[in-house]
Amino acid sequence: MIIGRGGCLAITAAATLLTILGAAGCQKSEPPAPAAPPPAAAQRPAPPPAAPAVAKIEDGADQLTHGRYLVETIAGCGNCHTPHLPDGSLDQSKAFSGAFVIEDPGFKAYARNITPDMETGIGSWTDDQIVNAIRNAQRPDGTFLGPPMSFAWYKRMTDTDVRAIVAYLRTVKPINNVVPKSEYKFPLNGFGPMVTSVPDVPKTDIVKYGEYLAGPLGHCMDCHTPVVKGVQDLTKLGAGANIFNKPFIFDWAAVAANITPQPGIGLGGWTDQEIKTAITTGVDRTGRKLLPFMPYGLYAKAQDSDLDAIIAYLKSLPAQPAFTIPTE
Ligand code: HEC
Ligand code: HEC
Repeated sequence: MIIGRGGCLAITAAATLLTILGAAGCQKSEPPAPAAPPPAAAQRPAPPPAAPAVAKIEDGADQLTHGRYLVETIAGCGNCHTPHLPDGSLDQSKAFSGAFVIEDPGFKAYARNITPDMETGIGSWTDDQIVNAIRNAQRPDGTFLGPPMSFAWYKRMTDTDVRAIVAYLRTVKPINNVVPKSEYKFPLNGFGPMVTSVPDVPKTDIVKYGEYLAGPLGHCMDCHTPVVKGVQDLTKLGAGANIFNKPFIFDWAAVAANITPQPGIGLGGWTDQEIKTAITTGVDRTGRKLLPFMPYGLYAKAQDSDLDAIIAYLKSLPAQPAFTIPTE
């Protein structure tokens, strides 16, 4: 049995498959009250190291810069499509050549080679075919792709953004790499109605724009919303609790945090700057380093205005109490 409490795990002997890296992923404490000085042993962790200097990718008016910005920051395609190095960062020498394998009771999925390699990548696909694969999970031969790529969210990616992403993917280095075929134990029929066009989301309403960034474009809400019996429970948007067991090359399990304004277990009481620091450096307000399954390395390069919009949206969410994914 797994008891989640705002990203906390308690595991009985029955769940020996889960390997948790120490207690990382477990404490979510309020900052200590400035009362009596604590005994030395109970002192709070050292302050987080200064954020590494990561050059921001500036978004620009031209399509290619915009596409690069999206792919390498908020959209985070490389988090699955590029192999990970032991420190959690991405192996840029193999960028987008496919890697991620996730084993789930229902499937064994391999993130495919999305470089422009003609033979093993998507070099021979037309722009429309790539757009259709990203938004409608449909390959040029008409068959459908399966999870965990966030198709249900990507469906609402705007024409401007999805086309910019495709334009950028065409410019990355082609890498010849054959990826095994994913296996699914259930039929694949797409993820809802097919979309052919999605209008721009204006940046004037920052909460709405933040919703777009955190959902259809960045799929934050995909990782951070509980999946119950294979279905994402949208009434618990942002409640976390999903367990990612031994992701990528790693030997630990990560639990998605509650990122609603719930005090104590969520982001209630966090300042905007504390939330921003967690998203971009992976250091939470208590100084704990987050497991790199949370792709903060990519978000480090996101623009402040986009981060501000995401934070405004997160703060607008209904607070969600602690939730445990039922085990059956
Ligand atoms: C959570 C992991 C994950 C993320 C993030 C992700 N993908 Fe994927 N993607 C996959 C997997 C797994 C498949 C293969 C699914 C299958 O085999 O049915 C795939 C398939 C694809 C395909 C189809 C390629 C083919 O040969 O069939 C394209 C195109 C693609 N992804 C593009 C993207 C883009 C662009 C992004 C970022 C906007 C992205 N993906 C983000 C996991 C991911
Ligand atoms: C691939 C899955 C994934 C994606 C995508 C993702 N997260 Fe996370 N996030 C996690 C996990 C897992 C944790 C907990 C890590 C840990 O406890 O070490 C986390 C932790 C966090 C935390 C720290 C909360 C705390 O209490 O310490 C914040 C804030 C956060 N995510 C916000 C976001 C935002 C905003 C986005 C989108 C821009 C996002 N996440 C995208 C998986 C994800």
